[in-house]
Amino acid sequence: MIDLTLNNGVTLPTIGLGVFQSPPEETAAAVDSALRVGYRHIDTAAAYGNEREVGEGLRRSGVDRDDVFLETKVWVTDYGYDQTLHAFDKATGKLGVSTLDLLILHQPIPSRFETTIAAYKALETLLSDGKVRAIGVSNFLPHHLDRLLQETDVIPAVNQVELHPYFTQPEVRRADAAHGILTQAWSPIGGITFYPGPWGDERRSVMDDTTLTEIARAHGKTPAQVMLRWGIQAGRSVIPKSTNPARIAENFDVFDFELDGEQVARIDALDTGVRGGPDPDEPREAFFAREIPEA
Ligand SMILES: NC(=O)c1ccc[n+]([C@@H]2O[C@H](COP(=O)([O-])OP(=O)(O)OC[C@H]3O[C@@H](n4cnc5c(N)ncnc54)[C@H](OP(=O)(O)O)[C@@H]3O)[C@@H](O)[C@H]2O)c1
Repeated sequence: MIDLTLNNGVTLPTIGLGVFQSPPEETAAAVDSALRVGYRHIDTAAAYGNEREVGEGLRRSGVDRDDVFLETKVWVTDYGYDQTLHAFDKATGKLGVSTLDLLILHQPIPSRFETTIAAYKALETLLSDGKVRAIGVSNFLPHHLDRLLQETDVIPAVNQVELHPYFTQPEVRRADAAHGILTQAWSPIGGITFYPGPWGDERRSVMDDTTLTEIARAHGKTPAQVMLRWGIQAGRSVIPKSTNPARIAENFDVFDFELDGEQVARIDALDTGVRGGPDPDEPREAFFAREIPEA
């Protein structure tokens, strides 16, 4: 396993287990299974409704809490200074821990950016109080970062964004790199391009891409492993989701091969420039319908 060093010196394992859409009843088993094969980073969110089960999986595994990097996200209905301080209590209460390794804002709210700023200022307080080891953001475009940096003191350690071979976000990666922010890839094996959901089944799945299939065959690996290796070689944090023990193990088995420059260039060239997930600048009133329960 490789560690990445964040801009405040804290280290983060390069592969983490994602748990978006992991049903609560399967989440504890998935976390337990991941920790047993060597994962030491879990990415959850208040909005996923499974923080409690992530904590349960951690305890079930027997792995020391201090050896696991726990990351979670504050949902938009908990933005605001006092609300976000309280969101930390809700998250840690459900996870059953006293501190978090990384706490990030799940989305910018462009129409109420002052609330986003107030939420981030609460993250800064949690950081200086030693309650979280690092803070960051998710789904921030370069202009959101610019405004955040103008109005706050601590540069985010991480920006978690949609990033897979069909949507590689060069502008976001450039902006992150310019500020020393680690780009963390969500849907790193293209989940957003194929998992069932409100987007329908007709979309083209990056998992079936012929370039990836060819490169995978050349290494005796799977397309998922090639996508994760491509992310790791670019210095990104990747957080593939699975609740299936065999696929959880498969997604971690990526440290014994290397893509050459030509293979990396072929994968880079698959970018369509079309995102699969929501545009962070588009107002989404549905976001505000979700309330995060108390611990
Ligand atoms: N910040 C945000 O707004 C945001 C948005 C989306 C996601 N995320 C985070 O990023 C994580 C990963 O993203 P994601 O869940 O959207 O997509 P993903 O990890 O790219 O893909 C997950 C999908 O791939 C399947 N899968 C997993 N391993 C596989 C393999 N080796 N071969 C074939 N299929 C495989 C999973 O099904 P099985 O479970 O059945 O294996 C699931 O349907 C999330 O869980 C979450 O933590 C964040």
